Amino acid sequence: MAQPTFIGIDVGTSSIKVVAVDKSGHVLATAASPMSVSIPRPGWSEQNPEDWWQGTCAAIRSVLAEIDEPDVRCIGLSGQMHSLVALDDAFAVVRPSILWNDVRTSGEAAFIREEVGNEGLRRLTGNPSLEGFTASKLLWMRKNEPGLYERVAHVMLAKDYVRLRLTGEVGSDPSDASATLLFDVARGDWSGEMCSMLNIDRALLPGIIESSEIAGVVTAAAQRETGLAVGTPVVGGGADNACAAVGAGAVYAGGALVSVGTSGTVVMPTESMLTDPQMRIHSMRHALPDTWHLMGVVLSAGAALDWWRRCSGGSNFEELVVEAGSVEPGSSGVTFLPYLTGERTPHADANARGVFSGVHSGTERAHLTRAVMEGVSFALKDSFELMTGLGLEPGEAVAVGGGASSVGWLQMLSDVLNVPLRTVSPREGAPLGAAMLAAVGIGAYADVGEVADLWLKELSYVMPDRETRDAYDSAYGQYRSLYPALKGTFGSAAERG
Ligand code: XUL
Repeated sequence: MAQPTFIGIDVGTSSIKVVAVDKSGHVLATAASPMSVSIPRPGWSEQNPEDWWQGTCAAIRSVLAEIDEPDVRCIGLSGQMHSLVALDDAFAVVRPSILWNDVRTSGEAAFIREEVGNEGLRRLTGNPSLEGFTASKLLWMRKNEPGLYERVAHVMLAKDYVRLRLTGEVGSDPSDASATLLFDVARGDWSGEMCSMLNIDRALLPGIIESSEIAGVVTAAAQRETGLAVGTPVVGGGADNACAAVGAGAVYAGGALVSVGTSGTVVMPTESMLTDPQMRIHSMRHALPDTWHLMGVVLSAGAALDWWRRCSGGSNFEELVVEAGSVEPGSSGVTFLPYLTGERTPHADANARGVFSGVHSGTERAHLTRAVMEGVSFALKDSFELMTGLGLEPGEAVAVGGGASSVGWLQMLSDVLNVPLRTVSPREGAPLGAAMLAAVGIGAYADVGEVADLWLKELSYVMPDRETRDAYDSAYGQYRSLYPALKGTFGSAAERG
C-alpha cells in the first residue's frame, strides 16, 4: 500500500542528509552523502554546489529505494547558513561556494563595520559584521574576482540552490536570509539601506518565501535525477540551526537548543526581536512566521573532537569519550580553547586559535580528550550565559548532534550549562525540522507545534550533577581567563595558517 511520506533534506557541511518520515513521524528511511571541504588556502573553505546537488540526488534515491511504495507528499530543506552561492543569469554556478567557516574576508568585514557602523548594523540587521556572514564574501568576490563578480545575477544560500535544482524556482526564507547581513531581521525583508551602503544590487537577492510556504514543485529534470514524482511540493525551508530547533521541538519562546555538530550552537526562540547590546550573539528570524531566535556559534565543536581524534590516533569518538570518562571533571588542570578556525561567540575573532594550557608531565591522552570536550562545553556556556543575561530563562534545553548522542558528553554539557538536557527521537534534527515545515506547508498539520507534539518522543533526560559544579566552575573560570591573556599572540599564528 502507498506510504504517505514527508521528506527533509539538510545540505550540511560534512554530509547531505535526507530523512523520510510517515504521518506519525516514524522514520521510514535515512541516507547521507558525505561531502568534503576544499581548503585552497589556510582559512579558506569551499564546496561545489554541484556536489550538493549530486549528493542530494543520491541520498533521495537511496531513501526512496528503501521505502515500500513511497508516496512523497512534500519536501522541506535545511542548510548550512551564510555560505555564498553565486549564479549567472543562466543559473550556472560562477565560483565554488565560500562557506560559513571561511575567514578570508576579515578586511571586507572590517570595511562593512566602518561603512555602516556598529549602531547602523544593529539597527538595520541586528547582527555584527563578521567574516562568516555572506555580505563580506560578496564584497571579497567583487574586489578579488571582478570578472566573475560581473557575471553574478543571483545570490542565494546552500539549501536555496538545491531548491532551485529541484523546482527551478529562486528564493530564500527569512531564517537563512538573516545570515547574510543584508536582511532586516526586525522587519523580515531585505535591507535596501544595507544594499545601497555596500553598493550591492538589490536585484541580485532572491524573493523571500516563508519556511513552510510552498516555493515550487519538482520538475521533470529533477524527477529524472532524484526519482521524485513531478509536481511534488517543495517548501521554503530554513537555516540549519532554525530547522534543528524545530526538529528538536525548540519551537516557541522558552525553549532552547544546544547543538553539537561540526559547529556548536545555542539557539533560543524569542517572541520579539532581541539583540545583545554588544552584538556578541546573533539575532535571527526563526523558521516560523513572525518569530525570532538568538544564536551563539562555536565554530569548532564536533570538529574540535574530530581534529583531536585524528591528531591523537584515537580510532573513534566513542572510545575517546569513554577514555575521557576515566578523568575527573576539570581534566586535572588542563584547559582547551576550541578556537581552531577562529571563534564567533563571544569573541568574534577570526584570528583566535586553539590552545591547550596546563599540560604537565602527568598529562595523558584521556586528560587532553576530556579537556577538548570541556573546552567545547565551556564555549557553549559562553553563549548560554549571554542569553540568560538578556533575560531568557529556559528551564531545560534539547540537545542534538553527534555530541549529544554520547551519554558522557551529554552529562558533561548538562553539568557545565547547569540545565537539564533532553534528547528526542527521531534524532535527525535539521532534516527532520525541514520535513516538519514541509508537512505544515501542505496543510497536513495546523502548525509546527502540533507536528512536534505528534512526532517527537523523549529519548533521554539528564539533570545537572551538583557534585561536579565546583570543579566545573573553577575550570570555566580558568577557561575564561585564557582568551584575554592570549589574544595578543593569535595574530601571527593566523598568518602562519
Ligand atoms: C551558524 C553557522 C553554522 C552553520 C553550520 O551561524 O555558521 O552553524 O550554519 O552549518
